Amino acid sequence: MLDVNKIKNDFPMFRRNQDLIYLDNSATTFKPDAVIETINHYYEEASVNIERGDYLLSHKVSNMSEDARLTLAKFINAKRQEEIVFTSGATDSLNMVAYGLIDRLQEDDVILLNYAEHASNILCWFDVAKKKNCRIDYIDLTLDGEMCLDKLKAKLDQYGSKVKIVSLAYVSNVLGFKQDISNIAAMVHEYQALLIVDGAQSVPHMETDVQNLDIDFLAFSGHKMCGPTGIGVLYGKYEILDSLKPLRYGGGANARFDIAGNVLLQTTPHKFEAGTPNIAGALGLAAAVRYLNSIGMKNIEEYEKELKRYMVDKLKKLSNIKIYNSETTSGILAFNADDVFAQDAGSYLNTKNICVRSGNHCAKILHNLIGTDQTCRASLYFYNTKEDIDAFVNACKDLNVENCIGIFF
Ligand code: ALA
Repeated sequence: MLDVNKIKNDFPMFRRNQDLIYLDNSATTFKPDAVIETINHYYEEASVNIERGDYLLSHKVSNMSEDARLTLAKFINAKRQEEIVFTSGATDSLNMVAYGLIDRLQEDDVILLNYAEHASNILCWFDVAKKKNCRIDYIDLTLDGEMCLDKLKAKLDQYGSKVKIVSLAYVSNVLGFKQDISNIAAMVHEYQALLIVDGAQSVPHMETDVQNLDIDFLAFSGHKMCGPTGIGVLYGKYEILDSLKPLRYGGGANARFDIAGNVLLQTTPHKFEAGTPNIAGALGLAAAVRYLNSIGMKNIEEYEKELKRYMVDKLKKLSNIKIYNSETTSGILAFNADDVFAQDAGSYLNTKNICVRSGNHCAKILHNLIGTDQTCRASLYFYNTKEDIDAFVNACKDLNVENCIGIFF
C-alpha cells in the first residue's frame, strides 16, 4: 500500500496548494522535489553544453546525460541504451518515426490507425500518407476502446503485404483502454508490418518491457511521468531505428561534411539529436524515473486500479452522470453530466478547486466511436487519494444545467 500523504509531501505543488484536487494527470503531472533539485543543480552548478567542450565539466555533464539515457533504457527494458533517442515529447517522437519511415512507403501502402488516437498519432500519418499516396484505414474498436484481435486480423487479411505500419496508443487518452500489445505485436509482425506504440498514457503508469512486448517503436513524454516538460523519448529496436531518416539535421548529429554536400552522420542515437539537446530535461527525466522506481511501477499500477474502481463505483450511483469507460482499468475516466456542456462542467468543478480536462482531448475523431466530441475527463496518478475522489464525486452530484449557468473564469 502506498503512503500517499507522505508521497504528496514530496511535491511542492501539493505543499503550496493544500486544497487543490488535481485530476488532470493525463494532461501533465506534478514534479517532485527530486526532479526540481536535479534541474536546478544542472542550471546552478553544471550549466555547460555537452559533447562539444574540451574541459572537464563538459565531459562530466556529457557522462551524466548518457547515464540519463541508460536510466531510461533500463526503465523500459531496452536491449541497449543506443535505442533511446531524447526528443521533445511523444508528439516529436511520433513525428520522427512517421517522417523517418517515409522513404520506405510506396503508393497504395496502408497505415492502420483507430478512432481513439490522439492528434499526435494521426496527423503525422495523414501527412506522410498524402505525400506518398498511401492509404489510411481504421481498425474497429469496441465502445470501451478495445482493439479486438479479430478486427485487427480482418484488416491485416484485407490488405495483406500492403500494410506497412500499425500505430496505436497502448492506453488511449480518453477511454483509457490498455491494449493487448504483445498479442497485437505478434499479429502485426506476422504480416511483416511495424508496430508503433504511443506510450504517453501507459509508460507513466505501469511497467513497460519493450523486449517482452516486441514493440518496434515506443514514444513517450517526460512531463506525464513527473518529469519536466519539453523532454521525451523515442525508443526503437536498434536496426530499425538506425535505418530511419533523421527529421532534423545540424550540429551534434553529424561527424563531418564538406562543400560538395557530403555528410557523414553521427551514429544512432546522436544522429537524431541535432542541436543543443534539452540537457536539463534529460537529467530531470532520469530523476523522475528514479523517483517512480523508488515507489515501484507495479505499486503505482495497482494503486491506480484500486482508485479507479473506487471512483467508478461511487460515480455510478449518481443518476446525472454518464460514464463512457467504466470497465477500463487505467486511471482515466471519461464522463458527462446530463445536459451539461463538458466545458461548463469543467468550469463548475473548478469552482470546487477540482481540475479535470473537458472537450475533445485532441482525440478529434473519437466521436465516430462514442457519439460525442465533448467529454469531461478525470485522470488519476499515484498521488491522488480516496478523499480527492470523494470531493470530486460530491461535486458531481450537483452538476446540472442550473448550477452551471454563468460559470466561467
Ligand atoms: N495529451 C494530453 C492529454 O490528453 C495533453 O490531455
